Amino acid sequence: MPLLTIQGLPGPPLEVPPGRTVLAAIHGAGHDWWHACGAKGRCTTCRVRVLAGAECLTPPTESELRYREAGRLRSDERLACQARVESPGVS
Ligand code: FES
Repeated sequence: MPLLTIQGLPGPPLEVPPGRTVLAAIHGAGHDWWHACGAKGRCTTCRVRVLAGAECLTPPTESELRYREAGRLRSDERLACQARVESPGVS
């Protein structure tokens, strides 16, 4: 099962079932994380910077692409509520 490490959160890496969003994985492990719009992709409070393993996440959603185009989301950032974990090797 894919492992997710969030810098600054206590505890071991999170085991994330494929298909789960990064935000759901964080919340599922009992951590608090900003999500002002209710995980609808309409804000950027849930953003995370991806330092490694971007290929293990689903491609950016329309929301993320819109924020990137507007200069509000860097190319190495994802919205935790939109990015889903995929199994390694799945494209
Ligand atoms: S919680 Fe608003 S964009 Fe993710």
